[in-house]
Amino acid sequence: MQRKGIILAGGSGTRLYPITMAVSKQLLPLYDKPMIYYPLSVLMLSGIREIAIITTPQDQEQFQRLLGDGSQFGLALTWIVQDSPDGLAQAYTLAEDFLAGAPSAMILGDNIFFGHGLPGLLASADKKQKGGTVFAYRVADPERYGVVAFEGKKVRHIIEKPEVPPSRYAVTGLYFLDGDAPARAREVQPSPRGELEITSLLEMYLEDELLDVETMGRGFAWLDTGTHGSLLDAGNFVRTLTERQGMQSGSPDEISWSQGWIDDDALAARAELFKKTAYGQYLKSLLEE
Ligand code: TTP
Repeated sequence: MQRKGIILAGGSGTRLYPITMAVSKQLLPLYDKPMIYYPLSVLMLSGIREIAIITTPQDQEQFQRLLGDGSQFGLALTWIVQDSPDGLAQAYTLAEDFLAGAPSAMILGDNIFFGHGLPGLLASADKKQKGGTVFAYRVADPERYGVVAFEGKKVRHIIEKPEVPPSRYAVTGLYFLDGDAPARAREVQPSPRGELEITSLLEMYLEDELLDVETMGRGFAWLDTGTHGSLLDAGNFVRTLTERQGMQSGSPDEISWSQGWIDDDALAARAELFKKTAYGQYLKSLLEE
């Protein structure tokens, strides 16, 4: 079955208050584009065209204003509401009807990935129909994340926000799971902090020896945008990359066109819409090159 995508873009964004009192974190700018463009691009690079976007009830309309039905990117978007931020594993039960038994790639709406070889990494995760794949990345502050506990090279556990981290490897917010994920997610019990933890779901896959943990090496950047400083840093990173290379990162327009999902005329229309921006000029240059 064709893998489907989920972007989890709800949450409360309390660490970005007061900014996120009136607007969703995932709609904030990362330099020249809304944050959600970047995780959307990752799913598109994986070849996924059927994508559900999960938002809070109050933010859904704004996301729809930005992304519509997805046809401008050659996508089919489905809109799902999460009434309260009860945890990442809840995404799978909310998306159960949408998935209809298909395997999925879920990405958190505030997770930003860059790196040479990303499409290859995604393609190999996509090939695995049974079980799942997650990605581990070395960070300086693992205690803020789900952390991988290794025994030799084997992954034993994934522990949510441990006081004493068993390694420096955090699990990133990109999860490739098989069609059993919604049924398994229904078995997840709330943690002491009252959330349905993604780590509990991943532990179930680990217990059944069905989870691959792939390391993203130092050539990759995995950025988090959850605090004021990290949001600004991520924006500056995107700016540096974009201006130095004269290329765009996280452009759903470019990816869609290069995948052959939209034609030259459709890309030209988008370039025209954005003609007053460097982004629009970049899209135009793709057609001229
Ligand atoms: P977090 O950064 O853990 O939480 P948050 O976005 O609510 O922010 P804060 O800690 O500042 O209050 O969430 C990670 C991502 O997952 C983010 O993109 C929001 C999303 N999310 C949901 O969509 N639903 C949820 O129930 C949770 C917990 C997070």
